[in-house]
Amino acid sequence: MLKVVAPVLMATLVAGHGHVTNIVVNGVSYQGWDINSFPYSSDPPTVVAWGTPNTGNGFIAPSNYGTSDIICHLNATNAKGHAVVAAGDKINLQWTTWPDTHHGPVIDYLANCGDSCETVDKTTLKFFKIDGVGLVDDTTVPGTWGDDQLIANNNSWMVEIPPTLAPGNYVLRHELIALHSAGSEDGAQNYPQCFNLQVTGSGSAQPSGVLGTELYKATNAGILVNIYTSLSTYVVPGPTLISGAVSITQATSAITASGTPATGAGGAVTTSASAGQTSSTTTARTITSATSTTTSSATTLTTKVSTSSTTLVTSKTTTTAASDSSTQTVYGQCGGSGWSGATACVTQATCTSMNPWYSQCVPTAV
Ligand SMILES: *[C@@H]1O[C@H](CO)[C@@H](O)[C@H](O)[C@H]1NC(C)=O
Ligand SMILES: *[C@@H]1O[C@H](CO)[C@@H](O)[C@H](O)[C@H]1NC(C)=O
Repeated sequence: MLKVVAPVLMATLVAGHGHVTNIVVNGVSYQGWDINSFPYSSDPPTVVAWGTPNTGNGFIAPSNYGTSDIICHLNATNAKGHAVVAAGDKINLQWTTWPDTHHGPVIDYLANCGDSCETVDKTTLKFFKIDGVGLVDDTTVPGTWGDDQLIANNNSWMVEIPPTLAPGNYVLRHELIALHSAGSEDGAQNYPQCFNLQVTGSGSAQPSGVLGTELYKATNAGILVNIYTSLSTYVVPGPTLISGAVSITQATSAITASGTPATGAGGAVTTSASAGQTSSTTTARTITSATSTTTSSATTLTTKVSTSSTTLVTSKTTTTAASDSSTQTVYGQCGGSGWSGATACVTQATCTSMNPWYSQCVPTAV
């Protein structure tokens, strides 16, 4: 039986898988865009993340690379606040649980907003790449990718703002591209997430960039690619890294305070004490890799475990991950070559073959 569903919800019933819950700068955590509540509010709180009606954790497909949706996600609207960071600071972006089948690169860009990222027209932003980790090791096809490192890093990614960057207002465009279905045209899945930053410092670099709608083409070698065959090389899509980009070791950031977004020309405020001591609180797990290396070259994964008592001060974490039970959750994997997990989906979803290697529990129209 067909039941009437609001068009907005219909539009977001696409197979998708995650978003950034919060970002951490020097121990201070700023809340992200909460897809479970903000899209339903007429006056969502001021956060440093761009807004989107994408309640279904959906992605942007290559057929939409020429539309403004690729810039900061579906129908994205400017963040109403920003975080203040110094050039050279590291930012930890914490994701919801990322599925280990969704291999692909992790990419970070910045774009200068001029006077304000809160009011800038996103279609004028020119993005330059400061970080891009693609195929790290292909010993065991489909290989170890940037987002496998993200998963191993507590589902989070650390990126450094280039120390040489000129101070100013910037949009950080952080993106995962899932390539599990990318062997077919229009099969890649882009998950861009944008955040407003006010960068301080004394650098002078003003790298040139490209419009969001010109970052990728559906036929780029790093977009239309079958990752289930051995790849001799993988080129991270998009423009090349800027010369001032810094290669860093992945690490997590313990949260010591919650931050209130700055607005207007103001600086961000920390709302609880003892912020800013990252050196003593980072590194629960580290993974060594060169951010500028896009091909394999014997990267070693090391795991150092040290304990740090962390209090998560931001809101709830969404559970979108596949469970270990015999029925798979919506958007989880339910089949494909080599798959030994659950093949049945929860009642609201149907197991649908995306390609010979990947089947997914896609929500059933109700
Ligand atoms: C996105 O914007 C387009 C054009 O304004 C609109 O048709 C569509 O319904 C919007 N999608 C969502 C999910 O809000
Ligand atoms: C790992 O991620 C969880 C969920 O976001 C968070 O609560 C926890 O503090 C993180 N651990 C570290 C060491 O950052």
